[in-house]
Amino acid sequence: ASVETVPAETPAPNRTQNRTEQAEPAPADGFANTPDTDPSLAPNRAWGDAIRGRMASSTLGNDTVAANTLVETAEVAATIARGAAAGEAWRALGAEGRAAILHRAGDMLEKRRADLLEVMGSEAGKVLEQGDPEVSEAIDFAHYYAESARRLADVDGATMRPVGLTVVTPPWNFPVAIPAGSTLSALAAGSPVIIKPARQARRSGAVMVEALWEAGVPRDVLQYVQLDGRELGEVLVSDPAVERIILTGGYETAELFRRFRPDLPLLAETSGKNAIIVTPSADLDLAAKDVAYSAFGHAGQKCSAASLVILVGSAARSGRFRRQLIDAVGAYAVGAPEDGTSRIGPLIGPAEGKLLSALTTLEPGQRWIIEPQRLDDAGALWRPGIREGVARGSEFHRVEYFGPVLGIMTAATLDDAIDIVNDIDYGLTSGLHALDEEEIQRWLSRIEAGNVYVNRGTTGAIVQRQPFGGWKKSSVGAGTKAGGPNYLVGLSDWDDAPVRS
Ligand code: ALA
Repeated sequence: ASVETVPAETPAPNRTQNRTEQAEPAPADGFANTPDTDPSLAPNRAWGDAIRGRMASSTLGNDTVAANTLVETAEVAATIARGAAAGEAWRALGAEGRAAILHRAGDMLEKRRADLLEVMGSEAGKVLEQGDPEVSEAIDFAHYYAESARRLADVDGATMRPVGLTVVTPPWNFPVAIPAGSTLSALAAGSPVIIKPARQARRSGAVMVEALWEAGVPRDVLQYVQLDGRELGEVLVSDPAVERIILTGGYETAELFRRFRPDLPLLAETSGKNAIIVTPSADLDLAAKDVAYSAFGHAGQKCSAASLVILVGSAARSGRFRRQLIDAVGAYAVGAPEDGTSRIGPLIGPAEGKLLSALTTLEPGQRWIIEPQRLDDAGALWRPGIREGVARGSEFHRVEYFGPVLGIMTAATLDDAIDIVNDIDYGLTSGLHALDEEEIQRWLSRIEAGNVYVNRGTTGAIVQRQPFGGWKKSSVGAGTKAGGPNYLVGLSDWDDAPVRS
């Protein structure tokens, strides 16, 4: 009997890397049903104004948050015991039973689309243009994992068993889609889940969880918890009844988890420092548009965001790309999500630390082609900035800032540009703008990143079609690729995964 959802014990450092390539005609950023360029985007929908109108006073999710705050160790232990005990009945439902509930979860998420947009705007600063495809992604996850549950039940006659009680700790930047994807993957395979949303996005996670409960996921199979203080977090993950953690967050957090519970299977999607290379053969206008959106969508607060653009050869000398980029960025209205025209909302909190420094200071040899501008007293709302003259080995070349600041680098040849990218410790997403087929093949064969995109931006991976996850320091633990079979079968080697996709 093969064991399903159990990650390989120790990830080999040189394990087969698992990569998603997208070299076919570029779909627009976002998801199949809500492309970026579609004029029917949420902000233009008749109900867009109504949703925005509710953001400022939204209380959605508050009841669930208030009812699930854990303040004592004993409550954590009881939660874990409830989750562990719920596993058997959930497994016994069988793949068909679970798939039916997960499909219903997709329908409930669709039904609550307006609520999810309202709460994400109100709590996490998501503008409708960003929130709408995010809800679509969550819905896609539900239907994808529902079908995956069915496939798992029919793999070469093997008996599969789920890992068991899974703790999901999602980030604040995709407060609906990422917790939904992580949770639904575990539920599909038959594992109960305890989800602990990020502090800054508790209400958004709560509304998503409510939708799953309304679809028929039992409340002890999917428990929503809030922990006050780090000690309770340690109590949660140190309990031996917890059998896996799915984390999306910083590399350092993932390393902490790994040190704390080295025995525990961990699926961690971590940080990125992503670049788009533009060669002289590129459509420079398209490249400028894609770079601007990849860098500044959701104010640059995506692990998939492009924070470097590397101009090769004569592309570096052409004024056209710069002009088009400046134009594209200038067209982004910055403001609160409840304002009608905002395309870039506020940061999750006031810019501080390394991000504030990247928004306000230059390293030697750099200059602003657009200087970032702070638009509010708090320091959370920024007009994005672009610097040029970023040197190989500089801080800006290597550090992830997670905010609205982009750096331009130059390289003599495509190979030099690839070396610059591969020098970076992370390897999450990477982009190439080039129309020359030989350049495309060369880049694909050399670039070190999990999700690679040709003539398309680096954000907005599409469920199933572009399973999402990285290499190097962008992934910790035994598995990669949300929106693909790995989250279900937990093997680090795609070729051995007992699921036909
Ligand atoms: N999956 C998200 C994206 O691709 C992070 O942008």
